[in-house]
Amino acid sequence: MLSREIEQAIEAATRHYPQRQGACIEALQIVQQHLGWVSDASLKDLARLLQMTTDELDGVATFYNLIFRKPVGTHVILLCNSISCWIMGYGRLREHLTARLGIAFGETSADGRFTLLPNVCLGACDHAPALMVDEDLYGDVSSEKLDTILEQYGRAGYPGKGDGERTTTD
Ligand code: FES
Repeated sequence: MLSREIEQAIEAATRHYPQRQGACIEALQIVQQHLGWVSDASLKDLARLLQMTTDELDGVATFYNLIFRKPVGTHVILLCNSISCWIMGYGRLREHLTARLGIAFGETSADGRFTLLPNVCLGACDHAPALMVDEDLYGDVSSEKLDTILEQYGRAGYPGKGDGERTTTD
């Protein structure tokens, strides 16, 4: 069951649209921000609030790859596997990431800290290879830089999702 706080945030979002269904993506994001992912139970409650069927809302949720329909770790790593990054070292980064975290794409590290997902072009092709951790974009990622990034997010007390600094150059 969605909390009162989540329901109030969703109600506020619906007021920006002529029809409640128009807020469906924003509402899914609100649920995910509060709960980390969108479970079947949350989806059902949300569909009721938006006056949609669960199938309609699930169609929207599964269309967008940044809406998570399965539990994810504390931090989600999106590794770009499109052409510029592929040419500039995607394979090396993928090997390094999977070896360091001990997981493949679609999996979460044993400590629950990182989930690794592939992603089509992050819009930072001029700084390939690129990846995102939560909402923070990193470009020109070498193996050494990747180690520094992982250590930053792996540190105890590091801020949660979206609290880091967005950058493509450092
Ligand atoms: Fe990787 Fe565009 S191809 S950011």
